[in-house]
Amino acid sequence: MRSSRRPSPEVAGEEALTRHTDYGGERLEEGDLAPTPHEQFARWLDEAARRGVYEPNAMVLGTIGADGVPQSRTVLCRGVDERGFVFYTDRSSRKGRALSAHPVATLLFPWYALHRQVIVTGVVDLVDDAESDAYWDSRPHGSRIAATASRQSQPVDGRDALEARVRAEAERYPAEIPVPRPERWGGYRVAPTRVEFWQGRTSRLHDRLVFSRPAVTDPWRVERLQP
Ligand SMILES: Cc1cc2nc3c(=O)[nH]c(=O)nc-3n(C[C@H](O)[C@H](O)[C@H](O)COP(=O)(O)O)c2cc1C
Repeated sequence: MRSSRRPSPEVAGEEALTRHTDYGGERLEEGDLAPTPHEQFARWLDEAARRGVYEPNAMVLGTIGADGVPQSRTVLCRGVDERGFVFYTDRSSRKGRALSAHPVATLLFPWYALHRQVIVTGVVDLVDDAESDAYWDSRPHGSRIAATASRQSQPVDGRDALEARVRAEAERYPAEIPVPRPERWGGYRVAPTRVEFWQGRTSRLHDRLVFSRPAVTDPWRVERLQP
C-alpha cells in the first residue's frame, strides 16, 4: 500500500514537469551580433556574470566515446579567444579517452535565468604545456593536491581510500612546496566550426542565430534558424 505522505510516482515532480514559463522580454537581431562568435560570446558571458548567473563559465561538454556512445558532463571554461574555448582536466579521464578517439566536442552554456543558451561545436586540440602550466600554477594548493591524488574517472575503494591518497600527497607537498602539474593533467581547446546564440522569446518563437564555417580556417557566415 502507498503511504499517504509520499507522492506517488505519477505526481512526483508534476508541477515542475507541466509548468509553462514564457521567455519574453529580450531579442537577438542580426544587427546586434558582434562580427565574430568569440566576441559575441564574450558580450553574453559578461552579461551573464553581471546579471548574477551562477557559475556563468560552466558548460556542458559533449564528447563521443571510443565505443561511439555520446557522453556529457560539466566543465568550467577557462579561456575564450579567436582560437577557441579552453577547459582543463585530467587527460586520462573518460572524457580524455573520448577526445583521443574522436577529437571533436560540443559545449553548451545553459544560462536559463537569462533565457539564453550558447551551443558550440568544434574540433579539439591540446593546450600547450606552457599554457597548461600557467593555469595549473594559478590554482589553489588544495585543488592541485586533489588533482594529483585523483585518477579521474577510475574506480576507488571508498571515500577513505581517496582521502588517504590526498593526505599522502599533502605530506609530500606541504603548503609552501609547489605541486608539480601531473603529466596527465592539462587543457583542451575547442576550435569552433559552429556557434549558436539562442535567445528565448515569447510563445516559444525564439531567436536562433548561428555562426558557422566548414573548417576553422574558413570565414564565418551567419544564418537564422526557425525556433
Ligand atoms: C560546475 C561543475 C564544474 C566542473 N568543472 C570541471 C572542470 O573544469 N574540469 C573537470 O575535469 N571536471 C569538472 N567537473 C566535473 C565533471 O563534470 C566530471 O565529473 C569529471 O570531469 C569527470 O568526467 P568524465 O568521467 O566524463 O571524464 C565539474 C563539475 C561541475 C558540476
